Amino acid sequence: MNILGIESSCDETSVAIISDEKLLSNLISSQDFHKKYGGVVPELSSRAHLQIIIPLIKDALKQSNMAMTDIDLICATAGPGLIGALLVGLTFGKSLAYSLKKPFVPVNHIEGHIYSGFLMDEKPEFPYLTLVVSGGHTLLLIVKSDTEIIKLGSTVDDAVGEAFDKVAKMIGLGYPGGPKIQKTAEAGNPDKIKFPVASLKNPYDFSFSGLKTAVLRHLQQAYGMEKHVPEADLPDIAASFQSTAIKALVQNAEKALMNYEIKAISVVGGVAANRPLRNAFAALAEKYGKKLVIPDFIFCGDNAAMIAYRGYKVYQTGRRYSLNYNAYPSLTQDTYIR
Ligand code: KG4
Ligand code: ZN
Repeated sequence: MNILGIESSCDETSVAIISDEKLLSNLISSQDFHKKYGGVVPELSSRAHLQIIIPLIKDALKQSNMAMTDIDLICATAGPGLIGALLVGLTFGKSLAYSLKKPFVPVNHIEGHIYSGFLMDEKPEFPYLTLVVSGGHTLLLIVKSDTEIIKLGSTVDDAVGEAFDKVAKMIGLGYPGGPKIQKTAEAGNPDKIKFPVASLKNPYDFSFSGLKTAVLRHLQQAYGMEKHVPEADLPDIAASFQSTAIKALVQNAEKALMNYEIKAISVVGGVAANRPLRNAFAALAEKYGKKLVIPDFIFCGDNAAMIAYRGYKVYQTGRRYSLNYNAYPSLTQDTYIR
């Protein structure tokens, strides 16, 4: 079966083709122009998706040596995400399915990330623990099967990627903050400044807004209200923040490992590109003798390969969708996450 995947939930337009489980093409066009606004501008994002989606589909078909009529199933991200951006990929996918008379599967973006580990040669085994860490979400889940995903905890405020982005902005590193914090932290001492890890009623929940505020307080106390941070101090701040954020993520994952039957661990989403985070989870997996699956960098950020793969799995469960399906901005609709 040849599957076309489309992703347009935020600032990446992506088109992928998989043939059964083999990835033939995964093209990603990133909207770098948002940098100058310090964050994603939704309306500009929608327009950029609209401009690039047809050329990307043509290129993906060419790269896969296929014609549009060779596609058997069309999958597109339906949410969560920016509504205008989602509508571009979803409407396009539905229109293609209608004109080609092929089945269509709307895919939950988070479920796409959760399944990104399956794009690797070493695949996760059920039941596995997944940590989803992106710019919009921080979730700890157990994936029991293709139709049963149990939510243990999530962030009660900011997503971890959002905290990276906001702290980077605070100390003048720019957007997107994650990679910049990681780079700056390389020269820093992670134990230099003590930032707190939140303790919550649900032991699997996360909170990153307190950490962000702690960084702000530190800046105000050390450098006054103007917060003119000397360049030489940036590495220690970045390293201390980063290690505290990682500690919070590892801590909850470890609790889950102690309390649940789990065969493997998978860390997915944009923040899973973070090198010290990958190292920390490698150490955790080794400590508990579990298989660890962290996708290659290209599959950590938003991509259509994970959407095609997840859509295919949903299709295989027998679930079918009408083309009346609309985009949804939240995680609550049409998802197997409970
Ligand atoms: O999954 P993603 O590409 O988009 C969303 O669905 O949100 O994640 C983007 C997030 C951003 O917050 C970005 O700063 C963060 O992932 N990120 C990183 C790194 N690379 C990207 N955070 C920490 N370290 C990185 N190396
Ligand atoms: Zn994402």
